[in-house]
Amino acid sequence: MSSIASSVQSTAGSVSDERVLVLDFGAQYAQLIARRVREQSVYCELVRHDITPEQVKAHAPSGLILSGGPSSVYADGAPKCHPGIFDLGIPVLGICYGMQLACDALGGDVANAPAREFGRARCEVTSESDLFTGFPHETDVWMSHGDQVSQVSEEFIPLARTKTCPIAAVKHASRPVYGLQFHPEVTHTPQGSMLLRNFLMAVCGCSGSWHLGDFAKEAIDAIRQQVGDARVICGLSGGVDSSVTAALLYRAIGKQLSCILVNNGLLRKDEQAMVIAEFTDHFKADLHVVDGEARFLASLAGVTEPQEKRRRIGFEFIECFKAEAAKVEDARFLAQGTLYPDVIESGAAHDGPAATIKLHHNVGGLPEQLGFELIEPLRDLFKDEVRRLGLELGLPTDLVWRHPFPGPGLAVRCLGEVTRQRLDILREADAIVVDEIKAAGLYRKTSQAFAVLLPVQSVGVMGDARTYEDAIAIRCVDSDDFMTADWSRLPNELLAHMSTRIINEVKGVNRVCYDISSKPPATIEWE
Ligand code: XMP
Repeated sequence: MSSIASSVQSTAGSVSDERVLVLDFGAQYAQLIARRVREQSVYCELVRHDITPEQVKAHAPSGLILSGGPSSVYADGAPKCHPGIFDLGIPVLGICYGMQLACDALGGDVANAPAREFGRARCEVTSESDLFTGFPHETDVWMSHGDQVSQVSEEFIPLARTKTCPIAAVKHASRPVYGLQFHPEVTHTPQGSMLLRNFLMAVCGCSGSWHLGDFAKEAIDAIRQQVGDARVICGLSGGVDSSVTAALLYRAIGKQLSCILVNNGLLRKDEQAMVIAEFTDHFKADLHVVDGEARFLASLAGVTEPQEKRRRIGFEFIECFKAEAAKVEDARFLAQGTLYPDVIESGAAHDGPAATIKLHHNVGGLPEQLGFELIEPLRDLFKDEVRRLGLELGLPTDLVWRHPFPGPGLAVRCLGEVTRQRLDILREADAIVVDEIKAAGLYRKTSQAFAVLLPVQSVGVMGDARTYEDAIAIRCVDSDDFMTADWSRLPNELLAHMSTRIINEVKGVNRVCYDISSKPPATIEWE
């Protein structure tokens, strides 16, 4: 990472004196914990599970949260935290595996649960504590564990139990250390945010003073300081992340910003015109539009394998971008809309046990060999925070709430060969899907809605004639974080209407299907 990127990151991270660190032990919910903490207006970061006490002190956190994790505390190579972190006097909340670790380190006994517990459980509060202030005597909680704490020394006070888990929550008698066997961060624990709030405010003494407005001000100052008189290039895609990045940059450095929009021929219907209109309405910065359609489609000719499509699109994009960027004089910096989940998923943030690299989510996007210093002003933010920031910066609601669109665009929704003719069919069908979802008032309620052109043809009958034409699949999902997703239960009437319109209005399509697969095991995109 360039020095600029790291300094922007650390400056952005100084947005509040109050912060909480989540030590990541590989839980699928670790990011969610960080989000839930930020929702309470307390700045929060994920860090490596084995962070040293000195490193913790350097962050000066108000509290530490030990995440869950897939391991057993006694398994070989199970990730452990440095025992010294419990001696810092900083409040600690262990969640699931994190609670087992804390109890193990401070005198509890962790055993394989007689009954593994996954799913909803009824939790009864057995002892009063600041953590459970305002909590009902009995409520539902979400359990997901094999091991559990079976016994604790006198140093620990049990606070709650479920039918199969006699110690569902604990508090250390003399240290500010707490543990929850269940997951307060998931929505299936309805009072979970109250527990986190109690930990943050009552135990850690936070006031909840972190706000996105402060974030914007500080990020703008940091950008100005780093950029000086140089020019910054920013790739625009029409998506929320790049638009908010550009808006922030424009606020910071105005005319020193040059934006590049590469039309790869894989955009949605009218997308290029929409981006240009939005751009010119909101910024007076220099805009370069590159028409790369012919070169992208030539490069994709005959290619059907999804990753090969991605590779070729990535390569062409870099070439187009490089050529256009070379026309911008004095450009020293490249701004990108990298978000916190991208940083975490790439392992770049902390390289924790959960760090996995998804081939298609390449952090940075453009390679360092381009010779620019990177500016990634959103790399500390989650998607919903970026949306809120976009609204604060005055971007239009429609743009801020646009569903995510993959970098390789319609190529990964055009199954089989990508040709202009097939893309046009897909574009028309896709526009109908989105139109109808919007007309039904469901666009904001769903996370992604789009059409997929299948590589099959099927027999139909139109009028008196037999047809043999393409099939379209409608994909519509609800998702919190796009790591998991459920197919949206759209009203039948809406599906019927979409189907009729697509078959009537899109020449070459005689069949429409609705995708009813969840992620996992399916993915959101078909390729
Ligand atoms: P999947 O299909 O992996 O998608 O369930 C999860 C989210 O990522 C988006 N996606 C991509 N975004 N480049 C991107 O920038 C890609 O190659 C890519 N593939 C999937 C997808 O639209 C969903 O929001």
